[in-house]
Formats: sequence, structure tokens, C-alpha cells
Amino acid sequence: MTDQSSAASDDPGSDGAVPLHRPGLTPPELPARSIPAHVACVMDGNGRWANARGLPRTEGHRVGESTMMDVIAGAVEIGVGELSVYAFSTENWKRSPSEVRFLMGFTRTVLRAQTDDLLAWGVRVNWVGREPRLWKSVLSEVRRSERMTAGNETLVLNMCLNYGGRAEIADAARAIARDVDAGRIKASAVTERTVRRYLYSPAMRDVDLLIRTGGEQRTSNFLLWEAAYAELYFSDLPWPEFDRVQLWRACKAYADRDRRFGGAVDGVRS
Ligand code: IPE
Ligand code: IPE
Ligand code: MG
Repeated sequence: MTDQSSAASDDPGSDGAVPLHRPGLTPPELPARSIPAHVACVMDGNGRWANARGLPRTEGHRVGESTMMDVIAGAVEIGVGELSVYAFSTENWKRSPSEVRFLMGFTRTVLRAQTDDLLAWGVRVNWVGREPRLWKSVLSEVRRSERMTAGNETLVLNMCLNYGGRAEIADAARAIARDVDAGRIKASAVTERTVRRYLYSPAMRDVDLLIRTGGEQRTSNFLLWEAAYAELYFSDLPWPEFDRVQLWRACKAYADRDRRFGGAVDGVRS
């Protein structure tokens, strides 16, 4: 697939702006320690949502833009500090050339259209993924969003674009091997902490809550390392029907989970 720097004819314009606060909607009150610090979303179900309405798959992606902005706003409102969104996987290159072309152009358009709002909301954009194959115009757009929002601290938005969990771990392994070869690190000193330093975004926190919309119950190669101990939440709603209220519902479910991380407490009372 070659880069298409000029907007394709089916390149969408951005739908109307999403407000940071929706009148009458407030997040549930949860104790601060029960709010997930890092939420990851597999934004799935766009194509099926559109096809079920007699529309081309691309219409689902288009509507999904406002869902994404609504969920980002909802994350800011409830106090989530980091949100990762799976926008395009390393496996998504298997799709038809026209859908791939649409998704690349659309991502560029969304970044261009929404960065001002993200900036105003205190969101810092961070691209997570690999460079090979990613359209240069998309990469430069996401880099522009990163530069524009670099001073923000309210929420880190990890835009996972051309991202694959296995690719990330393989890329890290290759970089570690290179540094071992060069004598910069000792093979015997490689630990989990070392591996983390070589991931695409070493500062990324572990995922606390991983949400997948669209009814499938799988993670599809998303944040394999970082979500090793994430709580999983599956919604049957297709992404275009998901919103901040649904995000808050997932956060409430998360708050009720018992995270043990392999530990155990004897519950027998004497
Ligand atoms: C997720 O929706 C969006 C991307 C993968 C970019 P899909 O396009 O996978 O929609 P479904 O799952 O086919 O309905
Ligand atoms: C996961 O959805 C990738 C993104 C949401 C970007 P897919 O639709 O590509 O995943 P599969 O094919 O159902 O596993
Ligand atoms: Mg899908």
C-alpha cells in the first residue's frame, strides 16, 4: 500500500464536536483507589454495525470517531489517567486495500480534526506502534498531535496505530539482543524490567481494565505485555453504540473486582 498524502475522495470529514461535559451526565462516585489508572479499549464492531444498517463498513468507522471522543471525555471526567485505544492493528493490513486506505486517511483526518479539543481537554497524545508500513502522512499527523499536546497531564491517550503485541515483544527482544551483542547489557541481567524498557512506550503503566466492544471475547494481540494482569470487560455493544456512560459502567464493574495478582488470603474464620 503506498502513501496517499492527499485526501482520498472517500476521506471523511469529521463529525460534529463532542463536548467534554454532557449536561446532566456525571460519572459514578467511586473511591479514587478503585478507579482504573489505565484503561485500554479494543474499539471493535464498527463494520458489523454499519453492515447491519445496510451501510458500508467505513460508515461504522466514521461514527466510531465520536464514540472515541466521548469515551476520552468520559475518561477525563471519571479521573482515568491513561487510555489506550486500538485504532489499527498489525493484522489489519489483511483487510481490503480500500478499507485500509480509508482507515489510514480517516485516522489522519481524525487526528487533524480532534487535536485542538484534546489539547483543550488536557489530553496528551502518545503514538504506540511500529513504523514499517504505517503511512508517512499518518505518522507525521500523530507526531504533530504529540508535539501540540506534549505539555498536557490530565490524561495520556495512547493511539495504538499499526500496533501488535507480538510485534512489540519481538521488536523489544531484537533490540535487547542487539545491546547484548554490543556489550551494553549482560544477557544474565535481562529481567522483566529490562524488557519493559524496550517496549514501544516504556512509561506506559500496566493496563488495569481492558474493554472490548463488539461482542467478541478475545484481545486480538493488544498490549500483550502491558495487559498481562488486566481485568477484562466485554461489551456486546458495537463501538458506534458505546459511550462514556458505558465506560463508567465498565469502571464500576472494575471497582467490584477482586484483584489478587497471584496472591491469596485465607478466608476461614475461626
Ligand atoms: C474495529 O471495527 C475497527 C478497526 C479494526 C479499525 P471492525 O472494523 O473490526 O468492525 P467489525 O468487527 O468487522 O464489525
Ligand atoms: C482488533 O479488532 C483491532 C482493532 C480494534 C484495531 P479486529 O476486528 O481487527 O480483531 P479480530 O479480527 O476480530 O480479531
Ligand atoms: Mg472487528
